[in-house]
Amino acid sequence: MIQKFEKIKSLRGELFLAGDKSISHRAVMFASMAEGKSVIRNCSESEDVSSTMNCFAKMGCEFKRDGNTIEVIGKGIGKLTLAQSQLDAGNSGTTTRLISGILAAQNFETEIIGDASLSKRPMKRIVEPLKLMGAKLSANENGTLPLKIFPSDEIHSIYYTFQVASAQVKSAMILLAIHLDEESEFIEPVPTRNHTELMLGLKTVPTENGMKIFASKKNYPKPTDITVPADISSAAFFIVAALLVKDSEITIRNVSLNPTRTGLVSVLQQMGGDIQILNQRKEGGEETGDIRVASSQLKNVVISKEIIPNIIDEIPILSVAGLFAEGNFRIENAKELRVKESDRIKSLCDNYKKVGLEVIEFEDGFELRGKPSSIPAQFESYDDHRIAMTFGVLSSLLENGGTVSGFECVGISNPKFYEQLTNLVL
Ligand code: S3P
Repeated sequence: MIQKFEKIKSLRGELFLAGDKSISHRAVMFASMAEGKSVIRNCSESEDVSSTMNCFAKMGCEFKRDGNTIEVIGKGIGKLTLAQSQLDAGNSGTTTRLISGILAAQNFETEIIGDASLSKRPMKRIVEPLKLMGAKLSANENGTLPLKIFPSDEIHSIYYTFQVASAQVKSAMILLAIHLDEESEFIEPVPTRNHTELMLGLKTVPTENGMKIFASKKNYPKPTDITVPADISSAAFFIVAALLVKDSEITIRNVSLNPTRTGLVSVLQQMGGDIQILNQRKEGGEETGDIRVASSQLKNVVISKEIIPNIIDEIPILSVAGLFAEGNFRIENAKELRVKESDRIKSLCDNYKKVGLEVIEFEDGFELRGKPSSIPAQFESYDDHRIAMTFGVLSSLLENGGTVSGFECVGISNPKFYEQLTNLVL
């Protein structure tokens, strides 16, 4: 579907977004693992989280949806049941990688498949470390899906330093570790999102730059009643749009403000963005608050290597902020972007070239020079939800608007994106 965007004159009002995708994935997984009834409120409406639910439904868990409230009947340790067919993780890397850790502890065989994009994404990063814990699993010869996971009676605890800055790899190992009596100890040299640790109540000890994490069976999930804060990665598109559209002021309510996720807000504030955090509080172990954003003149800043894992999902939309800021937008140390739902460095560079920008592409980033031309822009989503929304926002800023093809992929994280944007337009 080709979505058309007209130039927006002003954005005003209040926005309530569905629950954070990363937190919702974990809430669904942990409720499915826990024995008995859990309730998840303000659950993400994303197709990705539906993929997680579908996988656990195939292994005997029950889900009842009433709006954004999900009631889950989970199975308990060792009680998930053999799926009658392959588990389809759709487009979702988080589903695939996190459930692999859980499946490695089961006494039945499973196979995980996914869509064309997921089938190209690297899985060796979980296969190898899970094998070090005695798990029996294999990807295909390219290190991609399908993943086959077999029962193993050799699973053991581990002392392990993560080799990639990835919350998905970290979580996969933790989820296997919580099936074991003996404690595992993980060293995370560069911090990544810590929702798994918070939700499972893991002991963590800060190290010089990173974190030590301890996990054992005593952290195996119990039934819960959880309210998921709004998704900061979905909020990011509206934050940048409100900064860049003249005469705008919006407030996004009850957003997840976990410090491992708020790097975008810090970078935009350093760039001169008028962003205020209001009503900050803790809900269900996670920082939450309202974000008020007003139109601002921005200037580009140097984006440090350390903050990259924190802003990895927000770099596409951050580049739009950088495009309209004083100086040139430049990002480096972000090679991980190449293995997301699309090769995001390539998707961004190719789209920016369509509006006449000089784009310098590096292996681990890119730089943008010049200003977009006034011809009506025709962007592509490359079937990547964050690329689609990024260029939806950019189109809304251009004199003659623009279009984004394959726009339906926004459903992967936020099916209501277009409706929410239009509701804020004055
Ligand atoms: C996620 C972790 C990140 C992020 C993804 C969601 C998670 O991936 O990009 O959208 O929920 O754990 P990596 O951990 O692979 O960097």
